[in-house]
Amino acid sequence: MKLSIIGAGYVGLVTGASFAELGHDVTIMDIDDEKIRKLEKGIIPIHEPGLDRLIDKNSDRISFTTNMEQVVREADIHFICVWTPPLEDGSADLTAVRSVARELGKNFKKLKAKNQIVVTKSTVPVGTGKKIRALIRQTYKNEFSVVSNPEFLRESQAVADMMRPDRIIIGSNDNIAAQKVAEIYKDVKAPIIITDLATAEMIKYAANAFLATKISFINEVANVCDLVGADVEQVAEGIGSDKRIGKSFLKAGMGYGGSCFPKDVRALHQFSNDSGYDFKLLKSVIEVNEQQRNLIIDKLNKHLKIMNGKNILVLGLAFKAYTDDVRESVAIDVINRLQKEGANISAYDPLALINAQKHLGEDVIFVGKAYDGAQGADAIVIATEWPNFKDLDWPSIKDLMRKPLIIDGRNLLDPNEMRRMKFTYEGVGRG
Ligand code: UDX
Repeated sequence: MKLSIIGAGYVGLVTGASFAELGHDVTIMDIDDEKIRKLEKGIIPIHEPGLDRLIDKNSDRISFTTNMEQVVREADIHFICVWTPPLEDGSADLTAVRSVARELGKNFKKLKAKNQIVVTKSTVPVGTGKKIRALIRQTYKNEFSVVSNPEFLRESQAVADMMRPDRIIIGSNDNIAAQKVAEIYKDVKAPIIITDLATAEMIKYAANAFLATKISFINEVANVCDLVGADVEQVAEGIGSDKRIGKSFLKAGMGYGGSCFPKDVRALHQFSNDSGYDFKLLKSVIEVNEQQRNLIIDKLNKHLKIMNGKNILVLGLAFKAYTDDVRESVAIDVINRLQKEGANISAYDPLALINAQKHLGEDVIFVGKAYDGAQGADAIVIATEWPNFKDLDWPSIKDLMRKPLIIDGRNLLDPNEMRRMKFTYEGVGRG
């Protein structure tokens, strides 16, 4: 099939490369000239395991362009994959989506295109599909269809999530268009759920909000565990073994970050409100997530008494492991707060140092090895769950530190082992 991807960001590139792997011809378009030129030379602007290989392997089926006319000439199913960043009030900014819809409309008309299908992959509030239809209608009067096919891609596992998803959601008020989009995925082994446009849009928000709720729930359980002397890791294992609950997304820590959960939970809360419903539970999910990072600072304060002049090494800057992405990273926020209290910060991350430098002040010392930052440290904060932090030579690190204090914001290390090494260790909800 001949498909286009509009927006060569994270979602667009993974989706486009995967569609090419499934045997389709894909035109990937972006308004960023420099990005497209790089992509044409094989330079992939994001870090995502397996993506470069997939693009390279399928290069004869992928073309890149900045030209919307070319997109409409080469494809008849168009996936909108542009960003929908949060506005001040939490609602999604649809400027890019609207602009793409207008451009599509103009070019459909200019090229007298027929049987066009416009699909939203970007996470868009319920009702956006309808708005896209109205915008295109302003210039293009022939029949066309709008479909919602939300993505559920996790950064660092996005290629696998795309090729082996748990389910594929396709929503449209035009059943023939929905079946045509389903056809794209015929070689993917996953159940396909076909529904209407609004329901598909809602499924995406409800899925992310539910996962965020699981995280805030376990974080609150952790906070009680701390008070009553129970271990949240074992509580999560115990409750997660019940199939109705499931083990995933029950890792207590400093709260969720990244480009999706914070934005999508706020947006669902906002558009529920706009529709006349006060989604109380989500308000709490957001509050708990924000409060969780204070907890790390409280734990540091408890041991260090005064933060001013203290040397703190932060291990991990990415919003989660295996990515260089620092968007809405809790680590960055915690560093900013510690600096406000006068602490001297050094920081290490296996992948995210360059991106983090753009978000943090010059006062942060970025180190190329965890050991370099440990010299003279009064505390270490583990802010991202990078598994290789477990393998550090902790006895040597302890010798370098001024005070052997570890605040493990991701419950990565074994508390007993760390205490055996004579560290003062605090995790989240470890009793
Ligand atoms: C998420 C969704 O999983 C994906 O389906 C959607 O399309 C985009 O948003 P992603 O942002 O890549 O994906 O990250 P994810 O792995 O879901 O983690 C999100 C955040 O939650 C991270 O900050 C992570 O550290 C935190 N988290 C996750 C926890 O604190 N505890 C958990 O148990 C799981």
